[in-house]
Amino acid sequence: MKRIAAFATTFVGATMLAWSSVAVELSIVHGSVGRDQEILRKQLDKFEAETGHTVTIVSMPESTTDQFGQYKLWLAAQSSDIDVYRLDVIWAPQIADHFIDLNPHVADIKGDFVAGAIESQTVGDKLVALPMFLGAPALYYRKDLLEKHGEPVPETWQQLTTTAQKIMDAERAAGNDDMFGFVFQGAAYEGLTCNAQEWIVSFGGGRIVENDGSIKINNPTAAEALNLVASWVGTIAPEGVLNYKEEDARGVFQSGNAVFMRNWNYAYALAAGDDSAVKGKFAVTTLPSGGEGLPSAATLGGWHLGVTKYSENQAEAIELVRFLNNYENQKERAIVTSRPPTLNAVYEDPDVAREQEFIPLWKPVVDGALPRPSAAAKRKYNEVSSEFWTAVHNTMSGNGTAEENLAMLEAKLKRLKGAGW
Ligand code: GLC
Repeated sequence: MKRIAAFATTFVGATMLAWSSVAVELSIVHGSVGRDQEILRKQLDKFEAETGHTVTIVSMPESTTDQFGQYKLWLAAQSSDIDVYRLDVIWAPQIADHFIDLNPHVADIKGDFVAGAIESQTVGDKLVALPMFLGAPALYYRKDLLEKHGEPVPETWQQLTTTAQKIMDAERAAGNDDMFGFVFQGAAYEGLTCNAQEWIVSFGGGRIVENDGSIKINNPTAAEALNLVASWVGTIAPEGVLNYKEEDARGVFQSGNAVFMRNWNYAYALAAGDDSAVKGKFAVTTLPSGGEGLPSAATLGGWHLGVTKYSENQAEAIELVRFLNNYENQKERAIVTSRPPTLNAVYEDPDVAREQEFIPLWKPVVDGALPRPSAAAKRKYNEVSSEFWTAVHNTMSGNGTAEENLAMLEAKLKRLKGAGW
């Protein structure tokens, strides 16, 4: 954005600071889930007061898929309207060419960040974005309802299915007509890819695309996972789950109308808030596995800050990216939004442990979170994901069986791969 030729003064306490440098107008594009933007604005206000620059938030829809569509248009047009983009963890390999290499600008702080997060944003030698926060989903459950109905916390998806049905039926029989068993992200978008990767991997059905680029997704174990999931729609989950994104699921759970929810970390602080109907009544655990002896899988999420090559104020934009990721701001974000930080030290901070217990509790899950195959599928990841969520969504909608949809998916992925990713 614009450079304003300005000379300004500001007061900090009793000291007058004068900056004769040029103040600029920056813009940051940022999605809106939960309290993300509220805390962002607060931190931008601090940045403005400290530097004299101004920063505008360009607000995006909730869905990462919708955001990506818009970002690609701006980037293809080489637009200078946006200086800093908040980028989903999966995008780096697809959009690296449009961003500056942050490596030379963060050499002094890079080692303080979670190594895997830095790696996820590194394409070739380029650091496309400086990691802002991570994501590793949890199974949220109503501990009051499990206790009331004498049920343990489920460890497998099959147990979750039975327990959810039992409690939902009993609660409905007692007059709670709005109660559902399980809510998650079932709309046809990237969020469903995250959920479905967890189901399939936790059954032992392999990856959407394997790390070596091979395609093995059309297998009976993956079909078994998807058949169980399809059985949830209209039983333990509302029919509407086929259109649910993160905030839809949270709305149902937080108003007290679901026994279980799969959601990202941000939902914790909100569900524990004073205006939540489930405050004090819920807890979190790792997502179930596909059976005894099988692993639980949590998809790696997160959002990171990159400076576009087309920005006319790159130096100030870099300053902003560093500022939003400094210790103080990461700590505040972790406490207020329960988003896992990207600075290792924040996990050890005693104030964070006291005020947001979810953060240290979830560190091992974040460390073990499973990336989507964006590195394997490279520039074609978005198409891969879209084919995958379509196959899953069709199965959940009763539009073909899991076996049919996975066979079709395999053919489409092979065509997409061609001679190589
Ligand atoms: C969360 C994750 C992001 C993921 C998205 C899917 O925002 O952080 O990585 O793509 O959910 O809905």
